[in-house]
Amino acid sequence: MPEAMPPANNLADLGLERAMNETAAAMELQLASLLPVSAGPEAKLHEAMRYAALNGGKRLRPFLVVESAKLFNVSPTAALRVAAAIEMVHCYSLVHDDLPAMDDSPLRRGRPSTHIEFDEATAILAGDALLTRAFEVLAEPETHGDAQVRIDLVREMAAAAGPHGMCGGQMADLVAETRPTAFDIGQITRLQRLKTGEIIAFSAIAGAILGKAPASMRVALHNYAHDLGLAFQIADDLLDVEGDEAETGKEVRRDGQAGKATFVSILGIERARAQSALLADQAISHLEIFEERADMLRHVARFVITRKK
Ligand code: IPE
Ligand code: IPE
Ligand code: MG
Ligand code: MG
Ligand code: MG
Repeated sequence: MPEAMPPANNLADLGLERAMNETAAAMELQLASLLPVSAGPEAKLHEAMRYAALNGGKRLRPFLVVESAKLFNVSPTAALRVAAAIEMVHCYSLVHDDLPAMDDSPLRRGRPSTHIEFDEATAILAGDALLTRAFEVLAEPETHGDAQVRIDLVREMAAAAGPHGMCGGQMADLVAETRPTAFDIGQITRLQRLKTGEIIAFSAIAGAILGKAPASMRVALHNYAHDLGLAFQIADDLLDVEGDEAETGKEVRRDGQAGKATFVSILGIERARAQSALLADQAISHLEIFEERADMLRHVARFVITRKK
């Protein structure tokens, strides 16, 4: 093999990087058009929504939507609208997560958090407005011609983001700060599945909903994303302990200070890393049904546990 030829896994990394960059660029345009600037006294709200949603992030959830949609030949326009709706919910969750009443984090995506750049009241409203706008986007006919599909998307996103999903997980995360010893590995796993896993799982099955895929394929994607979401959160917890602020774009070493119950606080660094690798392998094993068409989803499972940001 000639010297210059990178090993196969590097080629896969390059392919993934290119594909993720492409989706991120498309996401930027989609979000910018769905969140236009506005005039009048409410202009500040629109500005804060754009601040929170544009110019940043890995856009992992949009990538999962786009890649799952490709498996079922869904139109890219539909996939990008759903991806944008999920990213709006994700960005809202970050804006509220950073508030002083929650994690009190001044830095997000390498910039001042929304409540620092604007003010707390504006950040709360910007989060609320991103969440509601997201549901409006799903419900609009441009997202899918079949109203039943739109209703399924709305219901699944509400379930993933609501009291039995992300909001429930965020509550448990705060409760755990005051009762760290009450949370064992089973309870932490459940907390993280709600907090992070459900939105990631919805991202991966959104393409199947749009494409009216058979139940077996929807279940395969759900199982994949379930393991992927946990692996992703373990990596997030590891980055808080081992990561670098310049790379992650958010303050590190905060979970320990806040007394958060994380995979790392329970398992320690080495076992947490081993567990994330196991989960990534397990995630990949659910994709067999899609053969090589799911290769990007396989690569992204590796990326999730090796990422530095
Ligand atoms: C951070 O999510 C919050 C968690 C759910 C752990 P990401 O790591 O996906 O953040 P961005 O979107 O890339 O900034
Ligand atoms: C936040 O988890 C998850 C949500 C916003 C739902 P974290 O608090 O661990 O996320 P970071 O580390 O601030 O990004
Ligand atoms: Mg938090
Ligand atoms: Mg946080
Ligand atoms: Mg974190």
